[in-house]
Amino acid sequence: MKVKKPPAHPSGVTAPKFNKDQLPKHVAVVMDGNGRWAKNRGLPRTEGHKAGEAALIDLIYGAIEIGVKEVSAFAFSTENWKRSPEEVKFLMNFSREVLRSRRDELNTVGVKIRWIGQEKRLMKSVIDELLSAEKLTEKNKVLTLNMCVNYGGRAEISAAAAKLASDAKRGKVSLKSITEKSFAKYFEVSDVDLFLRSSGEMRTSNFLPWQSVYSELVFMDVLWPDVDRRVLWQAIEEYVRRDRRYGKA
Ligand code: IPE
Ligand code: IPE
Ligand code: MG
Repeated sequence: MKVKKPPAHPSGVTAPKFNKDQLPKHVAVVMDGNGRWAKNRGLPRTEGHKAGEAALIDLIYGAIEIGVKEVSAFAFSTENWKRSPEEVKFLMNFSREVLRSRRDELNTVGVKIRWIGQEKRLMKSVIDELLSAEKLTEKNKVLTLNMCVNYGGRAEISAAAAKLASDAKRGKVSLKSITEKSFAKYFEVSDVDLFLRSSGEMRTSNFLPWQSVYSELVFMDVLWPDVDRRVLWQAIEEYVRRDRRYGKA
């Protein structure tokens, strides 16, 4: 199948041009502020979640246009189970519907979808939908989209540690050989260059802690449903202006 270009933004804006080495390779996004967006309009919180779907799709199109290779999107955290049963149920069904209705168009533009998160407590129907989206898009190379559903950073680190312990117990790795680099291999998601959060909230809320120790953080003063590719491009312009020193003088 021939890969298509993503549809242009309705305003006709085009992506700012940067060299490949200036751009973030991997952008992580905490899609926050749906509830407040709905509240501002006198709507139920769920309407905010619905409105956020288009924001994610447009951000992905914008990421492809500018040349970003990987996006990790925080859709449901291991802490979000603390919400009302109605909201949790809505979010579960909604994740499944969005995957089903959007996977073909994401496939057409060359997006490879991966599910990152814990199996525990997730409905089988949601897992099945995630796995079938992975299967459909597994050969795509334009952009990798990590859909973080039932994801928690500490849960991810604990799972990696458990896997390492099991390998050590079986004699597959020796304790002496354990290093930051060798432990990093137990994680599915690579280091994040640019870490974004919408809604003005300035915290990372357990999203990709292992991968973001040297990320550039950009907190955007816009509620998630109002985000589009232009907001991503502004954040990338900010990223390009930053000086990433990694401890060097
Ligand atoms: C983000 O929006 C969506 C999820 C966490 C699933 P919120 O639902 O957290 O919206 P606010 O933060 O209450 O406005
Ligand atoms: C983080 O947002 C989780 C997702 C966006 C999926 P939250 O709204 O759940 O985070 P807190 O409660 O503000 O830390
Ligand atoms: Mg929130």
